[in-house]
Order: sequence, then structure tokens, then C-alpha cells
Amino acid sequence: MIKVTDLAYGRLSAPDLDQMEEFLTAFGMVRADRTDKALFMRGMDPDHTIHVTELGDPSFIGLAFHARSEEDLEILSKAEGASPIHELDEPGGMKRVTLTDPNGLQIEVVHGMKQLDTLDVRKITYNNGFERFNRTGKLQRVPMRPSHVKRSAHAVIKTPHVAESNAWYQKHLGLVTTDTVYQGEKENLLAIFNHVDAEEEFVDHHVFLCVAGETPGFNHLSFEVFDFDDVQAGHDHLKSQNKYKHVWGIGRHYLGSQIFDYWRDPWGRIHEHWTDSDMINNSHEASVVPAEEGLSNQWGPEFPWEFLDDPEKHAL
Ligand SMILES: [Fe+2]
Repeated sequence: MIKVTDLAYGRLSAPDLDQMEEFLTAFGMVRADRTDKALFMRGMDPDHTIHVTELGDPSFIGLAFHARSEEDLEILSKAEGASPIHELDEPGGMKRVTLTDPNGLQIEVVHGMKQLDTLDVRKITYNNGFERFNRTGKLQRVPMRPSHVKRSAHAVIKTPHVAESNAWYQKHLGLVTTDTVYQGEKENLLAIFNHVDAEEEFVDHHVFLCVAGETPGFNHLSFEVFDFDDVQAGHDHLKSQNKYKHVWGIGRHYLGSQIFDYWRDPWGRIHEHWTDSDMINNSHEASVVPAEEGLSNQWGPEFPWEFLDDPEKHAL
């Protein structure tokens, strides 16, 4: 079977695209396109689409991953339940194969996404660690504005069947287990972290997770931002809007080590900023750890269990 190369975007729906665009702009994305039916947002990196919102009742439609090649789409289209390859009738210029995961979520695998010019990122250098003279003669001034979201990085779904669901993703998308978290007894799986399989090439510690939950569906979408100042400045900017709910952060994760911050969109869906992930390759040895360790931080506030609630509980 194929090996996807990265997460492309999450696909949500919302009854008010203006409100969604306002949130995502404050979160640090930029509009790539908008039709009367959907909103397409980009980051600083060249990918045309890192977030899709369709007009409709608030729900989570599914996730899209990048295929390495069109041949891989061809291979995937032969899988049980897969659609034929088709041109996506949306901005972004992609070809696509769709599947349905065991929880009923739509999983898209896309290829040929339009590449746009990189947007300017701030040129910041730090004088710290062993690099005390990176920035000489210039003062550090961090503008107060939204974060600079670079790219779509990982997605997390909830499911009552963690092992079975995760196996489906590994089989169809070629993902590999990074770490497994259990609660109490070892067979009581709480979460499985997966990375893309790029063999000896280094990739993000995780691109996709299944976490245990009674209702199958959305847990969070995650986006890489520029650096630590960008996480904090983005936090302050969202807070200054006085209408969005903060969930968790700022802290540094244990598994993956990212410096993170989590916010809810107006319909309660969690969106994450992070910077400074662990990068791993096929020499990584998967660990199996208890929840106290797997969900802990290296620093920052403790894991809030409301993180695992259904989003509608936290809508504005
Ligand atoms: Fe995350």
C-alpha cells in the first residue's frame, strides 16, 4: 500500500463562513480562496490549502493527506471502498481519492496541490544557548499580531476503537506507530501517535493520532508556527479578541516535545499552534507509556480532561 507524505488539511463545516474566517485569520492563517459554499485557508508555506470549511451545520467531515505521486493515487483507488481518482471540484488544483474510515469520517488522499509564493515570515534570530551573537547591533522587537501559521501539521480523532481505527490508517496511508499511551491496564489504549514513513528521512514526531473517546469524531487540528515568540504573540492576539476560548498551554509536550497552545473555534473545535517538534526517522523506537507520562508536559499547565470532550460542549 502507499505511504502518504504529510497531512494536507482538515475539512470542517460551519454555518457561518465569515465567523470561521475571522477566527482562522486571528489564529494566523490567510484566505487562499472562498466560494459561496466553502472557505480555503493557507499558511505562510506554499501549499494552497491547509484548512477547509464547508458551509453547513457544524461538523467534522474528515482529513486529507498528501500522496507522493499520482501513481500512488492509482494504487489507492484499488483499495476496498476507495473512489476512483477524480479532479477535485475546488480551488487548489488537486486530484483525489476518497475513502471512509471505520468511524465514518471521509479520508481524502490528494496530489498536485497548487503551490503559491511563500508569504513573508518575520526574520527573527535569537541570542541564546551557544549562539550568543546571532543578532548583533539589532534590537529584538516582536510585533503584536496573529501567529505566522506555516503549515498543517497533525490531526487527532476520537474513537471508541483505538486499535482498530489506527490499524486502518496504518494500512491505507502507510503510517507508522511513534508511541502508544495506555490508561491503567496496558491493553486499555488511550492514544496512538503515528508518523509518516519517510524511511531514513526525518519527519515530525506525529502526523496523526487516534485517542479513546465514546463518540467518534474530531479532537483537534494542529498547525506549525514560526517560533516560540510566535506562539506567545499569537496567544496574546487571540486573547485580545475577547471571544475565543483557550484550552491548554502554553507548555512543552512530553511526547513530541513541541511548545504548544490550544484554542477553540466558535463551534468548539480545537486548533493548536506549535513550534519546535522532535524530528524522527525509521530508527525511532516506539515507546509504550502510561497516561501520566504520555499526556504530561515538560513544563506548562497540566493536561485538562475537558480536552477530550465533544466540541459542541464548548461552542461560543
Ligand atoms: Fe497536538
